[in-house]
Amino acid sequence: MKQALLSLVACAAVAGCTTAGVDVSDFDAIKEYTLKNDSGMVVKITNYGATITSIVVPDRDGNMADVALGYDNVEGYINAIDRPYFGAVVGRYGNRIAKGTFSIDGIEYELATNNGDNHLHGGNMGFDKVVWDAEPVEDGVKLSYLAKDGEEGYPGNLMLSVTYTLTDDNEIVMHYEATTDKATVVNVTNHTYFNLKGEGSGTINDHILQIHASKTTPVDEGLIPTGEMRDVAGTPFDFREPKVIGEDVDADNQQIEYGPGYDHNWVLDREGEGMELAATLYEPQSGRVLEVITEEPSLQFYGGNFLDGRLVGKSGKAYTYRSGLCLETQHAPDSPNHGGAEGWPSVILRPGEKYDTTTIYKFSAK
Ligand code: GLA
Repeated sequence: MKQALLSLVACAAVAGCTTAGVDVSDFDAIKEYTLKNDSGMVVKITNYGATITSIVVPDRDGNMADVALGYDNVEGYINAIDRPYFGAVVGRYGNRIAKGTFSIDGIEYELATNNGDNHLHGGNMGFDKVVWDAEPVEDGVKLSYLAKDGEEGYPGNLMLSVTYTLTDDNEIVMHYEATTDKATVVNVTNHTYFNLKGEGSGTINDHILQIHASKTTPVDEGLIPTGEMRDVAGTPFDFREPKVIGEDVDADNQQIEYGPGYDHNWVLDREGEGMELAATLYEPQSGRVLEVITEEPSLQFYGGNFLDGRLVGKSGKAYTYRSGLCLETQHAPDSPNHGGAEGWPSVILRPGEKYDTTTIYKFSAK
């Protein structure tokens, strides 16, 4: 395994680069790291949004392709229409918090509302839109960010890091750690969009997905969980056995209509607290396989329903409807308002405690 290679993609050096949403003084600090392993896999990561910008892996014949949607340059990420969170770490709270409010110890907090009346993926300047400190480590890079008390409405100074490492078994290991000086909520995840045929290669509805979960948390029309936990048996949400995504993606079902398609939280059938296989994605044409292994209790499978062809990615191809999918390990959306009920484990982090969670994306081909 080699050390991370560093290449600068400072926006200040790029003609025509705009500065929307980013402090200009931060641009010099934007870097991209390239991780390579002995199997030939290459992963690129930038400290803008702690974003995975590229994942190049072999198919069953050894042909390499980049399976992560994204852009060539940081300005692509900064200027993207509707900000799809390609590859980024989202937080302080990944996914939605109803009406942007929650209480801890009787104190009510009001967050930025950036998705209708609701809070999504950390707000207007979530962790996907800030520049993280970067430090190369063995086989990877450690990215750190201090989210200030009151940022986007959240209480507490949160010191957060994510360490990305690449193993020779074609695993991207994502290790998140955080501490706070005031009780707060934390739920961070990676928001990579995958297409195992290669980014820009059309729909993901031909991929075969298995999710180790017997229940989902149904949502209302604003994609806020109702609080119910519902069995997947006999519904389009049953991925307990491998199933082609397209089979039920347009089924006549109210939850599917709300998506529209898949954009839901599956409560994982866990055996304990350690690392467990949550989902396996297989693409028959290339033979590429992605396994998602995690300590987290839930998984958001988002099928790219908001992609509409307006975003043009790094290969110059438009990212069309459902041309990428996310498998976001997490605590359930809106957990701060469901406080510790079954299926809704606590997301509160207190001073003296440590947030510490790991998720792995493991690639192979068959
Ligand atoms: C998540 C959400 C989706 C959507 C995408 C980003 O996965 O669940 O509803 O907001 O992020 O476009």
